Amino acid sequence: MTPSDSPIKLLNKNALVDGFQRVHTYLRISVTDRCNLRCAYCMPAEGIVYRQKQELLTFEEIERVASIMVKRGITKIRLTGGEPMVRRDIEKLVYRLARLEGLKTLAMTTNATLLGDKAKVLKENGIKALNISLDTLKKDRFLQVTRRDQFDQVWHGIQSALSENFEELKLNSVVMAGFNDDELLDFVDFAFENRINVRFIEFMPFKDNEWNIEKVVTYKDMMQTIESKYKLTSLSADPSAVGKDFSLTDKTGKPGKGTVSFITSMSDSFCSTCNRLRLTADGSVKSCLFYPAEINLRDKMREGATDAEVEEMIRYSLSLKPEAHAPAEELSQSDNRTMIEIGG
Ligand SMILES: C[S@@+](CC[C@H](N)C(=O)[O-])C[C@H]1O[C@@H](n2cnc3c(N)ncnc32)[C@H](O)[C@@H]1O
Repeated sequence: MTPSDSPIKLLNKNALVDGFQRVHTYLRISVTDRCNLRCAYCMPAEGIVYRQKQELLTFEEIERVASIMVKRGITKIRLTGGEPMVRRDIEKLVYRLARLEGLKTLAMTTNATLLGDKAKVLKENGIKALNISLDTLKKDRFLQVTRRDQFDQVWHGIQSALSENFEELKLNSVVMAGFNDDELLDFVDFAFENRINVRFIEFMPFKDNEWNIEKVVTYKDMMQTIESKYKLTSLSADPSAVGKDFSLTDKTGKPGKGTVSFITSMSDSFCSTCNRLRLTADGSVKSCLFYPAEINLRDKMREGATDAEVEEMIRYSLSLKPEAHAPAEELSQSDNRTMIEIGG
């Protein structure tokens, strides 16, 4: 080994590093662009053209890309969508990915409509961390925002997830002024009573999602509301974590069972420590959620590309990753795909 071949240099040579020296260890895979809800802030009411089955990556193709990336330092994979649980046999993909050597965490983000019967098998097959999305605890509002009457199924899914004791269980709630910002304390009460991390997400702009700056509730405003009832104590966070995490105590000093976090993509973005890559359901690598550039791997793989050629395309996508995403107002006008198409 020559002096220039120090272990760190060797590690960097293999790792997935972008032009700003950010090392990528986290891959989010969208397994379908279909969803069984129609959340107004995520997808337009009409006009979404779903991909045909043959346009989606097969489980074998997903596993191949994941395996190439895990060999290059990805340690965490999250399955998302669309709604990942509407993809048939998703638990079989979970089983296969969970066994990739070097992968430490397999996670999933779901709307929980189909979780009631599947939480157990997902855990058994290898899901360690589960994020559930729920923006309101009120049944009528749930129908209003999701355009589907499925609140009871979601609630059943949440109860099943709680009883399965996943290593990590999170409840994600997108906070929108005038829609659900009056429910912050109800969500925190839920975190106080249950072993769950409730995460409040600042509303982000995507194509046709009726975003405007007045609807964004910043984490500072959210904290002020929550501190009227609870004491929040900061928990030390991993530098690449996207959440600001807090433990809870009530006014009598009693500690809460769960925790609360804020995902501050709009008011305090975390681009400088971003370690994420995305794979869309139709096989494109995307190195930034908000940057439209995508490199399609599917067609090249189907034409017979070798693993080395696939890796080269992944590295090319990384080389396009911007240092930071554009300001929110500009993002709302950008040509990026909708959240449902990219995979949340
Ligand atoms: C697109 S969904 C896909 C996974 C799954 N169907 C679910 O509901 O969790 C992933 C996450 O993106 C969030 N999301 C979608 N559009 C958003 C937006 N405009 N701003 C902030 N979060 C958004 C959703 O609330 C959800 O937590």
